[in-house]
Amino acid sequence: MRSPKSKPRGGKQKLAVSIPPGSLLAIEQLSPEEIASLLKETASMQSRLEKSPASRRQLTNTLARRRVALLFYEASTRTRVSFEFAAKNLGAVTTVVHAAASSIEKGESLVDTGYTIEATGAEVIVMRHPSSGAAQLMAHYLKVPVINAGDGMHEHPTQALLDAYTMLRHKKALRGLRVLIVGDIFHSRVARSNVQLLSKMGAHVSLCGPNELLPELAATLAPGIELQRNFDASLKTADVIMMLRVQKERLSGLNLNIEDYIRDYQLTNERMRKSKPDAIVMHPGPMIRGMEITAEVADGPQSVIVEQVANGVPVRMAVLARALGARK
Ligand code: CP
Repeated sequence: MRSPKSKPRGGKQKLAVSIPPGSLLAIEQLSPEEIASLLKETASMQSRLEKSPASRRQLTNTLARRRVALLFYEASTRTRVSFEFAAKNLGAVTTVVHAAASSIEKGESLVDTGYTIEATGAEVIVMRHPSSGAAQLMAHYLKVPVINAGDGMHEHPTQALLDAYTMLRHKKALRGLRVLIVGDIFHSRVARSNVQLLSKMGAHVSLCGPNELLPELAATLAPGIELQRNFDASLKTADVIMMLRVQKERLSGLNLNIEDYIRDYQLTNERMRKSKPDAIVMHPGPMIRGMEITAEVADGPQSVIVEQVANGVPVRMAVLARALGARK
């Protein structure tokens, strides 16, 4: 394997661990100003998408014929589809590589797969992987920007951006907003990215769940994070209630009783009656109706879950444009 960022042949190889400009690996890397700028760019993308057919057509000049590779080592619906539509809305050409239908199945390593995709002409790689740090590793070896579409239990930065954008569509500002994130925090890359982003932008973040899914250590994720165990009590002051999926595939070894969990932490209509009337309900998906949330609440008047999914497209347009240096 080549050293990070080495030249393919000849000369002394230089170790460089910088990441390619335009990469988005974690919310941690972004300043509040960069987050605000991406959210502003998202709003511009959305208004240009909605303005007129001519405006939509004009958007396709933004990344005309640029090559975007979508490399997915793990299942995805929302992220994969919205990245592909985002790229196409900007005029880019896309290729989707699924681990199960590629040479990864034959044993090709992560970095060799990256070299291959780069060598064939990809100008940016969007990557989902089950291991934390996989996108960072790829970015250390490649010259093209890498966008993290979710890595293990680490981060899912574009999800946090679309969540923040959705909050801003309903609330005046992120600063001072009371956001309650409920459920399987321990396994959630979405929670980690949201905590980072919301804290940087001045929101009050509370995390709520049983000890098994919300260890005390979670309080150190960012300054000012509050841990709550009593969902009914913490609901009352929340402006945003964000429910998370219980990641059943990762529960082995944990002492979690699902019936107790549903009794104490499922978001029901009865619980919604205790919330602020203008509180919004969010869920990054995939959502398990009847587990962390009832169907009535998921489809209810305070739910913005479908809008969240839709907002993934303009957010990812802004992120792709940034990656390829095409922002206005
Ligand atoms: N929220 C999210 O990442 O969904 P997918 O796994 O369907 O992409």
